[in-house]
Amino acid sequence: MIEARDLRKIYRMGSVEVAALKGVSLAIDDGEFVGIMGPSGSGKSTLLHQLGLLDTPTSGSIVISGTDVSRLDDEGRTLFRLMHLGYVFQDYALVTDLDVLENVAISAIVRGRPVDECYAAAREVLERVGLGRRLHHLIGELSGGEQQRVSIARALVNTPAIVFADEPCANLDTENSQIVLDLFRRINRDLGQTIVMVSHEPWHMDYFDRIVFMKDGLLDTERMREEGLRAKQRMIIEKVD
Ligand SMILES: Nc1ncnc2c1ncn2[C@@H]1O[C@H](COP(=O)(O)OP(=O)(O)O)[C@@H](O)[C@H]1O
Ligand SMILES: [Mg+2]
Repeated sequence: MIEARDLRKIYRMGSVEVAALKGVSLAIDDGEFVGIMGPSGSGKSTLLHQLGLLDTPTSGSIVISGTDVSRLDDEGRTLFRLMHLGYVFQDYALVTDLDVLENVAISAIVRGRPVDECYAAAREVLERVGLGRRLHHLIGELSGGEQQRVSIARALVNTPAIVFADEPCANLDTENSQIVLDLFRRINRDLGQTIVMVSHEPWHMDYFDRIVFMKDGLLDTERMREEGLRAKQRMIIEKVD
């Protein structure tokens, strides 16, 4: 579904170069809920931005659902994002002048679907995230947790192949973080939705099917081996118990 090979990203600021990705290869299957974890500055967001076509790598290739997206031009990338990908950001990025329903419907409308159908799809997905009773509230009338659920609904309304989320709980308290993570988990199970989420909160680990650990712009393979062993040990202990 997503296959990334030898991704490298160098940011250039004047004469200074920052190598944010130094050769990352990974594959993500259909229906996986994958966490990207690691310390601050390790390249998690940079990796997510390349996989989600929000940025172009300096080198390397990305194939999504059989399309070599690294070969698309700007227009092709924009279209691919619109048709196949959904995004959730830590600051929600909602339109404050519109109500909840409009915020979600507009994402379907820009894709050129009939307006009635867009509103129907928006209502349905807002029900799913538990905001069926908030359709006509303005964004400023909602809590942070509710706003993040609106943005999840917006990401889902076009039934994207993959949803990308960059630290979606960063501005939420523990209770609302749990609500949002439970929601992602449920969407993944019920809809088979592929989700790629960046997080640096250790307690979020329990929610993911698989974790990609980053360190200094590379996959932290040692950490992944350790976590794999720990999971195996847990399974053995559970069997003995
Ligand atoms: N737009 C940018 N310009 C220059 N350097 C950047 C830019 N974005 C990220 N970086 C640098 O790239 C490295 C990785 O950043 P990032 O992917 O944001 O890490 P993380 O999300 O794991 O905290 C850091 O050293 C960061 O300072
Ligand atoms: Mg980041």
